[in-house]
Amino acid sequence: MKLFAMDNNKINLTQEQLKKIANYIQKEGGILLDKNRLMRFKRKLENVLIQNDIKNFQDFYHRLRFKKDVHLKQEIFNAVTINETYFWRENNQFDYLANILLPTYITQGKPQNIRILTAPCSSGEEVYSIVFAILENREVFNNLNIELIGIDIDSFMITKAKRAIYTKRSVEKLPKKYLKKYFKEINSFYHLDRKLRNYANFLQGNIFDTNFINKLGKFDIIFSRNMLIYFNDNDKQKAIEIFHRLLNSNGIIFLGHADTNMINHKLFIPLKTGLHIYKKDYIQNDLNNTNQN
Ligand SMILES: C[S@@+](CC[C@H](N)C(=O)[O-])C[C@H]1O[C@@H](n2cnc3c(N)ncnc32)[C@H](O)[C@@H]1O
Repeated sequence: MKLFAMDNNKINLTQEQLKKIANYIQKEGGILLDKNRLMRFKRKLENVLIQNDIKNFQDFYHRLRFKKDVHLKQEIFNAVTINETYFWRENNQFDYLANILLPTYITQGKPQNIRILTAPCSSGEEVYSIVFAILENREVFNNLNIELIGIDIDSFMITKAKRAIYTKRSVEKLPKKYLKKYFKEINSFYHLDRKLRNYANFLQGNIFDTNFINKLGKFDIIFSRNMLIYFNDNDKQKAIEIFHRLLNSNGIIFLGHADTNMINHKLFIPLKTGLHIYKKDYIQNDLNNTNQN
């Protein structure tokens, strides 16, 4: 049986083989790849096989599914993620966070240690936008201990986020005053001030990986923007439940404008509907506590 059409080190994955890879990706990472997306990523997936010197689809599939080859799995994920992001995207939420929500932690005597998770963070623009918004409110910056963690399934994006060097396109929507204040332009690339890089931590991880998620601890605030749109309804629901578990009581979640249709109103109640901000529901907290007792 011919598994690949091989031509001078070229691999031509068949529709059936692509479908098997797509099923694996959806099962492991939630990412839905319809026919169009699969065709768009076909070449990248074939390159993963070529670069790993894999000549036979069965070997490839066996390494992925049964040998649990983490390196290969990572490369497959890196090949199919859509990482579109930029600084100051849906910036009303950063304004709300820094100027309305966080000050309440000071005035209402809430805990002064605030943990914020950005899941997913892609190449870091969203996390650093949060840093800028907080730095601009000195009262918040001086009075709260804020820990910021960004996670993404794509290891290449995490490397980019840590390096924090951006193209013009990434910073286009950022107000010029911040560009001037927080970046150095070198050969048309924008290098984030080294000091600011230390305000955030970045980790590669899959939100459906229970071991990884359990190690993160609890958060007061979660940003999850523009990831749920790539999942099917069932995985969207699972992700929302995971975020609910990750949040402390009274925790807040910020979603992207296209992500809100799946918000489970038994788990979250709207805080600012127009801004797609939700609050962990008390009733459900009580139920969780009862179940654990
Ligand atoms: C379009 S970007 C959104 C980035 C940023 N939140 C924003 O709104 O600008 C979507 C990101 O979700 C990540 N992603 C997809 N599935 C994931 C999963 N199961 N766990 C963690 N990250 C995931 C992708 O790698 C990609 O970088």
